[in-house]
Amino acid sequence: MRFSDQVALVTGGGGGIGAATAARLAAEGAAVVVMDEDADAAARAVAAIGDRAAASIGSVTAADDIAAALALAQRRFGGLDVLVNNAAFTLRDTLAETTPEDWDREFAVTLRGAFLCARAALPLLAARGGAMVNVGSVNALLHLGNPAYSAAKAGLLSLTRSLATEAGPRGVRTNMVSPGSVRTANITWQQRQARDPAIFDKLARWYPVGRVGTPQDIAAAICFLASREAAFVNGANLVVDGGLTAGMAVMAADLAT
Ligand SMILES: NC(=O)c1ccc[n+]([C@@H]2O[C@H](COP(=O)([O-])OP(=O)(O)OC[C@H]3O[C@@H](n4cnc5c(N)ncnc54)[C@H](O)[C@@H]3O)[C@@H](O)[C@H]2O)c1
Repeated sequence: MRFSDQVALVTGGGGGIGAATAARLAAEGAAVVVMDEDADAAARAVAAIGDRAAASIGSVTAADDIAAALALAQRRFGGLDVLVNNAAFTLRDTLAETTPEDWDREFAVTLRGAFLCARAALPLLAARGGAMVNVGSVNALLHLGNPAYSAAKAGLLSLTRSLATEAGPRGVRTNMVSPGSVRTANITWQQRQARDPAIFDKLARWYPVGRVGTPQDIAAAICFLASREAAFVNGANLVVDGGLTAGMAVMAADLAT
């Protein structure tokens, strides 16, 4: 029960990783505000938790929607201890197909949205010695396609370090979790599964642990960084990728044959 008497806000909390994180935070004692622009997804995540969860429908690109989510956390549960910046999306696989409008849209949610949420939540987090966790991606570290999203995630890593350094003295820790491929039904995976229904199994050979991740794998890492067990961890990027970026498993196999 690492989050007894604490309050958390999870952006994109209706989706795969966000809903798993909200559920895990709640299972460990937190009251949770699930913020999502998809009302049905948010309602499902809240229903799975029960009374100690509330939905706030809106976009992380809109300052008013963020203010409403924070007001709900205060009014209903009394404050804020944990912010998980998780909302993000990507539609464009390659630079060739990325228009300037696509670039701006992916940045607006993935990077600017996290900045807006962090900025608005900071006074509340500072009042209670809280923590922020930004959900990044291995795409911030190496090219795996989706260049606008990847650049935004690389920016999020920089923002994590800025927040850790500036907000640390105010008692707020900020860290990042960078997942590898995770079995969720996000729009990108839906597109990829439409092209190849076996995509997750096909990708398993790139992962030294022999599988892609689950939303629960990522939620566990987010909850560690958000908890007081991680009291001396600030500005870290915890890569949760089954060893994908530890080496080149497929090349190593070629070298050994
Ligand atoms: N699934 C993966 O393989 C994977 C890998 C690395 C990183 N990630 C990261 O994990 C996070 C969650 O991914 P997921 O796979 O669970 O995605 P998902 O699509 O299942 O969930 C994301 C949620 O965010 C919501 N959302 C999107 N734009 C929003 C906005 N502007 N305002 C509020 N809510 C918004 C969506 O409605 C959705 O419910 C993202 O930051 C993603 O980049 C995912």
